[in-house]
Amino acid sequence: MTSRRLRFVQVLATTFLTLICLANAQDFKKQVIYQIVTDRFFDGDTTNDNPSQSAGLFDSTQTNWFAYWGGDLAGIQQKMSYIKGMGVTAIWISPTVDNENLNLNAGNPISAPYHGYDGHDFMRVEEHFGDSSNSWTAFSNLTTAAHANGIKVIVDWAENDTNYNQGGEYGALYNNGVFMASASNDPNGYFHHNPGISDFNDRYQLQYYTLENLEDLNQENSTIDSYLKTAIHQFQTHGADGFRLDAIKHVTWGWEYSLANSVFNQAPAFLYGEWYNNDSYDPMYHDAYKFANKTGISELDFGVNSAVRDVFASNNNFSEVDGTISTENSNFTWNNDLVTFFDSHDESRLLTLNNNNNRLHEAMAFLLTCRGIPVILYGDEQYLHNDTNGGNDPYNRVWMSSYNTSTTAYQLINKLATLRQSSNDALGYGGFQQRWMNNDVYIYERKFFNDVVLVAINKNDTTGYAISGLLTALPAGTYSDYLGGLLGGSGLTVTSGSGGNNPANNFTLPAHTVAVWQAVGTPSAPEVGSIGPTVGQPGMKVTIAGKGFGTSAGQVLFGTTAGAVQTWSDSSVTFTVPSVSNGIYQVQLKNSSGTAANTIQFTVLTAQLIPVTFTVNNATPTNTGDYIFLTGNTIELGNWGTTFDTAVGPMLDPNYPNWFLNASLPAGAQVQFKFIKIAANGTVTWENGSNHQYTVPGSGTGSVNVNWQY
Ligand code: NOJ
Ligand code: NOJ
Repeated sequence: MTSRRLRFVQVLATTFLTLICLANAQDFKKQVIYQIVTDRFFDGDTTNDNPSQSAGLFDSTQTNWFAYWGGDLAGIQQKMSYIKGMGVTAIWISPTVDNENLNLNAGNPISAPYHGYDGHDFMRVEEHFGDSSNSWTAFSNLTTAAHANGIKVIVDWAENDTNYNQGGEYGALYNNGVFMASASNDPNGYFHHNPGISDFNDRYQLQYYTLENLEDLNQENSTIDSYLKTAIHQFQTHGADGFRLDAIKHVTWGWEYSLANSVFNQAPAFLYGEWYNNDSYDPMYHDAYKFANKTGISELDFGVNSAVRDVFASNNNFSEVDGTISTENSNFTWNNDLVTFFDSHDESRLLTLNNNNNRLHEAMAFLLTCRGIPVILYGDEQYLHNDTNGGNDPYNRVWMSSYNTSTTAYQLINKLATLRQSSNDALGYGGFQQRWMNNDVYIYERKFFNDVVLVAINKNDTTGYAISGLLTALPAGTYSDYLGGLLGGSGLTVTSGSGGNNPANNFTLPAHTVAVWQAVGTPSAPEVGSIGPTVGQPGMKVTIAGKGFGTSAGQVLFGTTAGAVQTWSDSSVTFTVPSVSNGIYQVQLKNSSGTAANTIQFTVLTAQLIPVTFTVNNATPTNTGDYIFLTGNTIELGNWGTTFDTAVGPMLDPNYPNWFLNASLPAGAQVQFKFIKIAANGTVTWENGSNHQYTVPGSGTGSVNVNWQY
């Protein structure tokens, strides 16, 4: 190759890398996610249908719902233009790690991990989804093709456990083909060996007992800790933009802070976890939102999931959705990062619950305009459902038998995804306000500075409603339905009022109608809508997104100290966290002429996080409802906080009166800490004596064991 041609190739390669980095942006609020059960989507490579190392798990007739049916990564890649044409901008694919190879049913019929949740080698790709050498080729090809189409790839990542511990491979774990341990052969303590979880309100059982007979990984073991972090980094290296973390309520909570930190240190990424069931009535609700607010890991929104299913399928009143959103918004700091869904691979489809396409469209329109990042389950846009056994798992994991791009649902997703992604920032960044409601009608507004989206839904099958007294932040003027009448909507006229409450004309909202009216404002100062990740140490790369930043670089300030800006555009800035002391900051962006934007919260850590297990022996006596917590002198230890939200804990007491807890601490730092009792009524009792001191190891994992000081 001549040197000129070589240079040309280098430039091409650099351009390509830059494109990849852009595709990796951390701001997911403008995305619409399409969830795919890989095995059930499209068979793009028939050579991997029945691979030799796991022969016999494939059912070409697609009648055994527990067998592999042939869908694979190449199939998703081949359907990229169908996916892109729907307007979605991200795909969430089922776990792609190499799964156990044996029929779990010993004989017949086949029971196979076609869903991907029975991993045995996290360093390799499953042969049914990729190729028979378990290489990364098909995965890399898919991420490359997705990025070339402006689509991000989110991988489902099940770090809680391996595979079935009562059959098949008995939980066996491998590292690139080398056996590490199994349920019955675990000399190094890679697994917990506890009974199945029976009490889902017991924090110890949740994290340390066995979920669904899947062999439970011990993340505090330094080999497992580094194995899992190395494995997830490999997915990032091969182009993954984010992860849906499976079963996060069952993984050691403190350890997950360090997992998130290690992912963010590797490359920008978006993380959301399955904290089943984070509804506000669940006894673990407070733990659920504390976790989301502090780890940098967002969560699937199970509250909105059940409310939407209740309202649109079971015809409950809209107040259920309205109440859920307002409660969650007051508890989740990053509520626009919550990942919203009404269907998933774990529950019957909406059309099974109520076989009414109008209701499906209305639920989709709601989800796509609600606060949070919406997920559409593959096949919903084709009205697919199988109602066997109430349509529950596995009958919800239908074969994707149709790719019709002219369905109303496909068109609807396209329109609202486009509005979210490229024209109106209210959907991604805005607040959520109810404007008018009765049992059947819900009118709500999303607003980000002067970007406004007003949505009106009437779910009644037959009755239209007269709407009067509606107020909106839309400026005075006449608006046509953004959906162009797709779901029966028509225009709206707004006259001037005051204080952002402009009267709309009276109108009738016909039965089964969704109307969307919207306006886009011009910023007079920079407007910040997003920061991601929300937590990190000095030097970590962070993205702030919004509008009106201008094209020449300004500043991003942590107090008076600016972060080093790497890229600056009118809507997105990347920078590194400056060397400021640890704590919670209200970060402020200023444009190149010094005009300040609204501030946004970010937690500056002391250093990279590593997991440390704390034990305090013979702690002060507790009564029911009292808990021992850990608190100390850095943000990772709660900065001497003494409340449920600020201290680290609650600690766990399987060996009462000794308590323990795994937490993530700044590598190499010398920290001071104490244990406290927070009584059920909030009264705090400190242990006596001077503060404990500990120097956190620079890498690996740590442990501390002290006596309560009387
Ligand atoms: C939750 C997943 O969504 C579900 O499908 C799976 O069976 C369990 N976690 C166990 O991995
Ligand atoms: C106040 C507590 O009373 C004390 O015990 C603790 O050592 C300090 N906070 C932290 O320095």
